[in-house]
Amino acid sequence: MDFENNSWIWEGVYHYPHLFGGIMLTAAVLGLSTSFFGGIGVPSSLAYFWPDLGIFHKRKHGKKRIRVYMDGCFDLMHYGHANALRQAKALGDELVVGVVSDEEIIANKGPPVLSMDERLVLVSGLKWVDEVIANAPYAITEQFMNTLFNEHKIDYIIHGDDPCLLPDGTDAYALAKKAGRYKQIKRTEGVSSTDIVGRILSYVKDTKTHDDHNGSTSLHGERDNTNEAEGEKCQSKGLHLSHFLPTSRRIVQFSNDKGPGPNARVVYIDGAFDLFHAGHVEILKNARQLGDFLLVGIHTDQTVSEHRGAHYPIMHLHERSLSVLACRYVDEVIIGAPWDVTKDMVCKSFSINNFGNEYYSIFLYILLNFSRWQLMMVFTDFY
Ligand code: CTP
Repeated sequence: MDFENNSWIWEGVYHYPHLFGGIMLTAAVLGLSTSFFGGIGVPSSLAYFWPDLGIFHKRKHGKKRIRVYMDGCFDLMHYGHANALRQAKALGDELVVGVVSDEEIIANKGPPVLSMDERLVLVSGLKWVDEVIANAPYAITEQFMNTLFNEHKIDYIIHGDDPCLLPDGTDAYALAKKAGRYKQIKRTEGVSSTDIVGRILSYVKDTKTHDDHNGSTSLHGERDNTNEAEGEKCQSKGLHLSHFLPTSRRIVQFSNDKGPGPNARVVYIDGAFDLFHAGHVEILKNARQLGDFLLVGIHTDQTVSEHRGAHYPIMHLHERSLSVLACRYVDEVIIGAPWDVTKDMVCKSFSINNFGNEYYSIFLYILLNFSRWQLMMVFTDFY
């Protein structure tokens, strides 16, 4: 009998197939949404506690861009910071970076070496950074978290996998974690701002010892072999202090992975680029504006030592190369470039025939317009 009572349904399906098709389709879409997202009609006040909401929008419309936020002091910015921001960017589509204020750093860690302005230039110069927020707080407070979510439309807050504790022992990212809007990246081993300050102090100490030895030598009026040994010890010290292991994968991760176009004007600039700073970013930006493709030659540790002194460089060749490669104005680096920029080097080392005449003419432009002496003047500025 039930069957007889429901016969109007089958008659309806037969006479109005489009109408029933539409009803069935709507029901299927609603059912799918409900089962996939755990329910429909989530109150907007729960948005912070809804970690996959961004993914929801992205999948539904196919165009919601995920915005991620990472903060930090970025003092004496190094390739570990750059690698952190590279990983953060990979977790979304747009990376917003909060640069912690001087006052907040002083209160939580002690005084920074670089000023807010210098740190801003360095962070903005990184190829993975889309936006920068100056004077960010050290801890993610409720108020700042609301600003990030509502004004800056941030989907996730990101930090390295090292604990970040406030002076009272609490977690600086506790609120973001509680809101389910926290993601973690892997900290880069072998480098930190503290380590770099340690290297600088160690070099200063060694220089003093070295100078003291030199003083006693002149008193005796003869060359003391121990000085030479001391110098060599100093020169190799930086390499001993660094725990960084360069891998081809890391270089590839930092690389743009594209060469100059057929008619590109290639600009070449070389130097030590030790302790990468705001001045380096500025000169690389200016160099890039001279052409379409910026190739940067990084001098070997030995070359730097020969020209700057046995205690330099502070950062070794691969560390310096990664810092330069992370800069948004740089297209390619030569890891261990020769000191002399000659026509022969241009032809042999950089295969200019592959790049075309423009590349050659830019090189010639550099060679004709700057004598080595002039180039050295420029170099001293960005060494
Ligand atoms: N970071 C990293 N690898 C490093 C150093 C830092 O991944 N070797 C990450 C941190 O985890 C953080 C971000 O870079 O998410 C910014 O770090 P920052 O606040 O500048 O300070 P520290 O974590 O103390 O690192 P450092 O002492 O090197 O400045």
